Amino acid sequence: MATKGAGTVYVCQSCGNQSRKWLGKCPDCGAWNSFVEERTRSAGGKETGRASFGLRQTVPVAYSDIESQTEARTSSGIAEFDRVLGGGVVPGSLVLIGGEPGIGKSTLLLQIADKISAGGASVLYVSGEESERQIKMRGERLGVEATNLYLLPETNLESILDAVERINPGAVIVDSIQTVFSSKIESAPGSVSQVREMANQFLLLAKSQTIPVFLIGHVTKEGALAGPKALEHIVDTVLYFEGERHYNHRIVRATKNRFGAANELGVFEMTGAGLVAVANPSEMFLQERPRDVAGSVVTACMEGTRPVLVEIQALVSGSKYGTGRRMAQGFDANRIALLIAMLEKRVGFHLIGDDVFINVAGGLEIDEPAADLGVVAAIASSFKNAAIDPQTVLFGEVGLTGEVRGALQAQQRAREAQTLGFKKIIMPATNTAGLERLLGVRTVGVRSVEEALDELF
Ligand code: TYD
Ligand code: MG
Repeated sequence: MATKGAGTVYVCQSCGNQSRKWLGKCPDCGAWNSFVEERTRSAGGKETGRASFGLRQTVPVAYSDIESQTEARTSSGIAEFDRVLGGGVVPGSLVLIGGEPGIGKSTLLLQIADKISAGGASVLYVSGEESERQIKMRGERLGVEATNLYLLPETNLESILDAVERINPGAVIVDSIQTVFSSKIESAPGSVSQVREMANQFLLLAKSQTIPVFLIGHVTKEGALAGPKALEHIVDTVLYFEGERHYNHRIVRATKNRFGAANELGVFEMTGAGLVAVANPSEMFLQERPRDVAGSVVTACMEGTRPVLVEIQALVSGSKYGTGRRMAQGFDANRIALLIAMLEKRVGFHLIGDDVFINVAGGLEIDEPAADLGVVAAIASSFKNAAIDPQTVLFGEVGLTGEVRGALQAQQRAREAQTLGFKKIIMPATNTAGLERLLGVRTVGVRSVEEALDELF
């Protein structure tokens, strides 16, 4: 393939990897068909940062001379959002909020803009997607009464920075980063080069003015818009709307946070008047749980610093084809395959000819080994067609020999189960010490999957 002349480069729209030639598959992130031709900046055009928003400190400073300061966090006015951020909004932080179209990004950020401005700071809400009228209409549904909130329908970076200088806001919201462009960069708006450079400019803005800047980023499965991966390493915090739009509730998860625990979770409900925090996620996730039905089990997960009880469902049924399929929603499919292999070998379940489907109810994505025992129990329950006592919770990591290993924060998990009225907790034997007396709930320590299954059936 002929290489193009200077000034043209192919950029992976998923991760930002650059190549002189077009490539079918990105060697960096593995995305297919993600390379798009982009024009590089003209020579000497590196100077896109405005002098007024440059970082101030350019000389090395002795570590011991730096004043330690307790992070002056401010509340976003929505406790559930503060939790995801690790305890509130950090001044000077750049936060990316990603999610599929229509999931509620603009709604959430407008609510936050309202709350922040009610706290006294002025907020600039830049929208490249909607007119002031549209935003106002949404605001009226949400009951926004802010007097300190400024709307700016603008996509040009230089104009946005001008507005920031004029208003001097206490917080900036950009809806969305993919619509913002600088005329100083030749690539199309929304391309990875533009988006990355824009994010860098907003980073400078956040750090130099010490104000929080929130960037909304679209995520499409097709990767039509610049992938968020390219932004993740620039920003301080990445929040994602997780799960599906068809649920009433919305899950916001921190996948990266320089100022707090990653994996922290916020749960909201989408109502006629915007997003409302769900006070007790465990209760909500278990709301529609069927009782006394085979294949349903409750496990205790840690989502960031919070224990959450969720229902795991399994369906084991004879396959029409020779070998069964394994499908999972909300849980790693490879891990399911591994647990099934373990059940075959160590417990003697014959699952080769069966389809096994796993579903985490409520659209939550579980990504921790402590949920293994719950998955194994759900599969066993469906396989044996025997219901598990609805007052029982299980958790624990399962190893390849069928051993049950200890879980982190076992006490918190057990406490959450006890709070929600569960009567029995089947958990790793290594974690049970003193728990029963402490919590006043029956705990059964198990060392192996067989022990757990004996206890269940
Ligand atoms: P929106 O915030 O516009 O999504 P995004 O910015 O992520 O694309 O939210 C759109 C959806 O939210 C839309 O389907 C309507 C719904 N919605 C409500 O249910 N209640 C409300 O009060 C608002 C403002 C929106
Ligand atoms: Mg929107």
